[in-house]
Amino acid sequence: MRIGVLGTGSFARRGPLPAITLAGMELEAIYDMSPAAAAEAEQLFKPKYVCGSVQELLSLKTVDAVFIASPPSSHLDVVSAVIAAGKPFVCEKPITLCSADALKLAELARKPGLPNAVDHEFRYDPGMLMMKQLIADGYLGKVRNSLLSVIVAHSVNPQYEALIYWNFNHVARMGGGVLPQLSSHLIDLHLHLFGGIEAKAGYLATMVPERPMPPEVRGGVPGPMRAVEAEDTVALAARLPNGAPAALSISWVAPCMPELRWAVHGDKGALVYQGNNGWFGGRLSGQCLGESAPGAIELPAIRRLESEQDRSRYQQDLIAALLRNFADVVGGKDVPVHYATLADDAKCWQNIERWRT
Ligand SMILES: NC(=O)c1ccc[n+]([C@@H]2O[C@H](COP(=O)([O-])OP(=O)(O)OC[C@H]3O[C@@H](n4cnc5c(N)ncnc54)[C@H](O)[C@@H]3O)[C@@H](O)[C@H]2O)c1
Repeated sequence: MRIGVLGTGSFARRGPLPAITLAGMELEAIYDMSPAAAAEAEQLFKPKYVCGSVQELLSLKTVDAVFIASPPSSHLDVVSAVIAAGKPFVCEKPITLCSADALKLAELARKPGLPNAVDHEFRYDPGMLMMKQLIADGYLGKVRNSLLSVIVAHSVNPQYEALIYWNFNHVARMGGGVLPQLSSHLIDLHLHLFGGIEAKAGYLATMVPERPMPPEVRGGVPGPMRAVEAEDTVALAARLPNGAPAALSISWVAPCMPELRWAVHGDKGALVYQGNNGWFGGRLSGQCLGESAPGAIELPAIRRLESEQDRSRYQQDLIAALLRNFADVVGGKDVPVHYATLADDAKCWQNIERWRT
């Protein structure tokens, strides 16, 4: 599959662009409204064409599918243009700034039957694939409780330059906040594993109330402080489709001892996913009624997270898996579909809006 990428900023360079090569696909064309971002991506990833506009990229007959990695505020216009051009696409989360626009795009894509995916790549983590399978096979019986905590440093870790400074990631009306930016992946996993999730109650807090503006040149002196306008830490309560409670405790401003743990208990068994260094790439254990102790559940071998740098490589592996699954669907193969669609992400947004009110 030959891919055109719209938006070649910090995440595109860290995730989707390397993943396209890893998936064995061709980077046909790129466009970024910032010539500097396009030039950097051109130098690193050698696309066939560097385009001067969204329309120019979409008019290329050799672009089979499009990856949209521009900021959330641009997605409504950009995705509408991609749909109008009839190109299958993968869009970064969050797909829009509100559920109404997400539903609008989902409907636009549904009419022509256009394959569309949202980059919730953690669906392809081997532990998540296995949990999905085991739950579907009845390992847990009737689910009675789900408890997830994800306490990480992503937005206070200087390694993630895009997240530590004041920008869209920290402004709710621009698609920022830990809910759409990080929790959307976790809400999406609940949708995927349990077939639904319904926000019931929540407490949202902003524990880091201001951040410096980005330096004028990369690595330079940070700018003045500016107020954060979105939550960075949340405690959420939800209802699963069978009435069981789900609790999600999520922060991206905790600098020490990262934690990712997901325990799901049912009337016949339990599964506990323990993340690796506070992120995916972790281990799964389980216990069924009648077993004397929990045991490790073997997962397919995949590169493990062993350092902070591995985190990006691991994410690239997951995005590559998503792209392969997507290409199979676009190519008409009869394969299981694991990726999230625009319609799924619209449901994520509806929940986020309920938790925010
Ligand atoms: N899936 C994940 O795990 C994950 C992780 C981080 C970020 N993201 C998402 O990736 C997206 C991009 O985030 P980022 O941190 O790279 O932002 P960024 O600001 O670093 O990069 C965005 C780029 O898009 C360009 N751009 C803006 N409008 C455009 C348009 N209309 N057409 C083409 N290019 C345009 C900008 O010039 C910029 O270079 C966001 O939606 C974010 O939520 C996803």
